[in-house]
Amino acid sequence: MAPANEITGETTAETKAAVESSHPISTLLIIIAMQTEALPLVTKFQLSEDTDESLFPKGVPWVRYHGTYKDLHINLVWPGKDPSLGVDSVGTISASLVTYASIQALKPDLIINAGTAGGFKAKGANVGDVYVASDAAFHDRRIPIPVFDLYGIGARRTFSTPNLVKDLNLKEGKLSTGDSLDMSPHDEAAISANDATVKDMEGAAVAYVADLLSVPAIFVKAVTDIVDGEKPTAEEFLQNLIAVTAALDQAVTQVVDYVNGKCLPDL
Ligand code: ADE
Repeated sequence: MAPANEITGETTAETKAAVESSHPISTLLIIIAMQTEALPLVTKFQLSEDTDESLFPKGVPWVRYHGTYKDLHINLVWPGKDPSLGVDSVGTISASLVTYASIQALKPDLIINAGTAGGFKAKGANVGDVYVASDAAFHDRRIPIPVFDLYGIGARRTFSTPNLVKDLNLKEGKLSTGDSLDMSPHDEAAISANDATVKDMEGAAVAYVADLLSVPAIFVKAVTDIVDGEKPTAEEFLQNLIAVTAALDQAVTQVVDYVNGKCLPDL
């Protein structure tokens, strides 16, 4: 992640050093919240499920798939199914935990957080578009006290990848994150204040942890539903999930192929 400082927008010294120590990117950490989004990439990159029981704490549902693809060690981490309810562990809490644990265990050169998102047609988003997020912020952390308000919003620039965005012809926009699929009136105002084009449930949390630990992170988000459109969000999301996942996985494959053999400053 860089630039990283949420108030000044400056890169932390640690991230700067990581980016400047130029060697080809070797270890990738891909974080994906939903199994439907993750499994096609596991197949594509011929990854195997980890059998090392010491990687994550005993009993957690988190799953790591790994393997070698071209010159890269790819780790794909999925937070798994909620132990009591059996649904994907979506949202910021699981995303933060797996990001932290995976960075500690795997020491990645680069994180890719990939997933689906709601898009705003007023900002030019269409179903099936794939965005790289230039910025990430929260829209559901309200702390109306000076400076705590900024902490709650947690706005930060993501790791800048101008060459990747241009060469792969991807769209770029700001990402706003909250723990709800739907959008309350407050969320709507906060998302608008964040100037977001896409809305998800993990990105800003991954960005926060990546920044804390000075690991560059990029965010690839495919639009399943139009938040400012006519259709109910949950219905539109479920209707488009499979088709849009194919677009997401194609974009992630292109990003991984692009990253292969390059150094961070080349991106
Ligand atoms: N993921 C896909 N669509 C979403 C939406 N509308 N809000 C948050 N996360 C999403």
